[in-house]
Amino acid sequence: MKIIKVNNNLRIENNDKNLFLEILNNDCFHFYVDQPNPIDLIELNRDLSSDSFFEIDENDEYITVKFEKYNFVIYQDFSLEIFKKNRLVSKIKLDMLDEKYVTSLELYNDTRVFGLGDKMAFLDKRGYEYSTWNTDDPTHQDESYKALYKSINYLLVKSNDDYFGCFFPSTYRYDYDICKYSENVINVSNKYVNQDFYLFLGDTIKKITSSYSSLVGHPYFIRYKMLGYNQSRWTYASSKEVMEVVDNFKKNDIPLDYIHLDINYMDGFRDFTFDKNNYENVKELTTKMKEEGVDLIVINDAGIKQDDNYDIYAYLEKNKLFGKLNNETYINEVWPGDSAFPNYFDEECKKYINNKAREFILENGISGIWNDMNEPASFKGELPLDVDFSYGNRKLLNEEGHNVYGEHMVKSLLGIYEEQNIRPYIFSRAASATTAKYAFVWNGDNASIWHHLKLSIPQILSLSLSNFMINGVDVGGFNLDTNKQLYCRWIESAVFTPFLRNHSSIGTKKQEPYSFDEEAKEISKRYISLRYTFAPYLYNLVYRVNKYGELFASPMFYHYQDDLNCLDINDQYMVGKNIIVAPIVDKDTYKRIVYLPKGEWINIINNNKYEGNNYYIVDMPLGETGIFIKNDSIIPMINNTLHLDKGKIYTLVLKIYGNTGKCEIYDDDGESMDYKKDIYNLYYVEYYDNTLSFKTYYHNYNTSYKYLKIITDDKEKIIPFEYNFELKI
Ligand code: GLC
Repeated sequence: MKIIKVNNNLRIENNDKNLFLEILNNDCFHFYVDQPNPIDLIELNRDLSSDSFFEIDENDEYITVKFEKYNFVIYQDFSLEIFKKNRLVSKIKLDMLDEKYVTSLELYNDTRVFGLGDKMAFLDKRGYEYSTWNTDDPTHQDESYKALYKSINYLLVKSNDDYFGCFFPSTYRYDYDICKYSENVINVSNKYVNQDFYLFLGDTIKKITSSYSSLVGHPYFIRYKMLGYNQSRWTYASSKEVMEVVDNFKKNDIPLDYIHLDINYMDGFRDFTFDKNNYENVKELTTKMKEEGVDLIVINDAGIKQDDNYDIYAYLEKNKLFGKLNNETYINEVWPGDSAFPNYFDEECKKYINNKAREFILENGISGIWNDMNEPASFKGELPLDVDFSYGNRKLLNEEGHNVYGEHMVKSLLGIYEEQNIRPYIFSRAASATTAKYAFVWNGDNASIWHHLKLSIPQILSLSLSNFMINGVDVGGFNLDTNKQLYCRWIESAVFTPFLRNHSSIGTKKQEPYSFDEEAKEISKRYISLRYTFAPYLYNLVYRVNKYGELFASPMFYHYQDDLNCLDINDQYMVGKNIIVAPIVDKDTYKRIVYLPKGEWINIINNNKYEGNNYYIVDMPLGETGIFIKNDSIIPMINNTLHLDKGKIYTLVLKIYGNTGKCEIYDDDGESMDYKKDIYNLYYVEYYDNTLSFKTYYHNYNTSYKYLKIITDDKEKIIPFEYNFELKI
């Protein structure tokens, strides 16, 4: 074996084969054989380290590369041993089996494998096989389903009492055997490209996930209002019905920020059109809605109706901007019937769609776009692997482009909102690892069944661990009829999930919060209102997601890595480090076991206090769930409100739990792009000895807050807002 140093990186040569090792900042190491996989279809922030200092030991059998606290032992066949602080975390073999390039990771001791994005499965993926191939499967998925809408080749692995992350950057399909056939071995295989992977070896799960997030790109900064409640339905049939929904929420004092229009608003399922019979004057509708504090979101599907009289089809066809098969526009069936698939990879296509979308959005006062069927989905079998999406000089077949098709569709909408100095509201069903910087996501078509409520928590958390911190599921369930109990438990459970949207399929029982009885209405109102009062706390998480790649909703072990009791909890989640949600996710169940890690916790539903590091059986009749706040903490909140319009919220509430506490609060206008110009404030609040100290440690925004309300266990004070003060309470 020969070692060659190339810039700051290493090339190890053996029998005409080369293994490369690149070091990136953030404890991230890139290994590849012969040449890197193509990554021109995605954007990675490959922040290469400028001062990589290796120590190298060699003998006849292997080479040891030492870099800070990491050792990599590389054998002649390029198998690798990865040591972190002298402890072996994994042995990685690079094989060729059945004409596939296989990367095998051997794990040790009490292992776990997390990640892989949106799989309808529990947090730990061991014992199953998965594939990354964007798939629209309308049947009711469970943990054995191999492929879903998103393809995220990222694993977070526990091995030898330590953690590491592993990311495969290629856009081609990968197949995973996660310790199914051999208990402690993960096999990752790919038919098309050589072994190529990134390892993240930071000390903690937090460091590993944020270092992965830095590589693929931190999720984009969402609007404050987007923390609000979204009501959707396939389908609200007319402007009149939409206003009825707005009125019903208002009449019942249930908070609401967005209504979503599904495909039937369109003229014959043609994107960027309205069915004028039912949606005569949309600008008037959106203006009326805005007066009520509610914004309109519309769906946008990938497939374009094949119709020469439809301008979008005609233009893309004329300019040869659809995917092709044998040089002809490729046609398959989607909602509009025969449809063609725009070549979103081509800049010309992106530009054309971008203009169409801009016109449509501005003309109609539309606040955001819901991108669907962009795997792309097709009803007459999958798109053949050789559908051609080449552009310029770049040859691109579906087998390579498929998993990033949805991402490129979403990229065709870039800039439309930013140009108006508004943060985009763009979400997507399909995604690849790098999509979160352009769009947030929902998990696709679940069903109104208890198992899907149960799996919604690990599904949301797996996506969060995979850099999709802003995500959510269809609350109440999409397919099949929901029922009062299931719906109520779902709204209780989803109370602090990042994206909160109630959505249901055509033909199913209605599931707006007021569609059941008084009790269900009260429960909805209670939990949606509660969420709204926590908006500043949640918004701080949104800021940290975007700035640092931290998690919004997380598995318990993200904040309590050393507490092994937290490892296998699939039915609780944390929201930041001070809130634990432990809901009921089973039918006819009115109590449950809750695990609380060290510290003292207060259940804000029944005000009971619990000493952590313990399991408790907690009563939760319908209408009650488990929401535990860490004692000795400060939660920034607001008063009750029906809409999250940041500029109209004048009082910042500081709720102090216990005798001491501290918190950070991020404050800006909540919707513009000004944060990019550093126009925001950061406050640091501390409470001790009955004294509150409030400091503005970054000040570049003229806050809209006028008052501060301070609430302790037994006192409440309202004072005019000040940027820096100390106050005896
Ligand atoms: C897809 C979407 C779903 C939507 C339906 C009709 O199934 O996942 O959310 O309601 O299409 O557009």
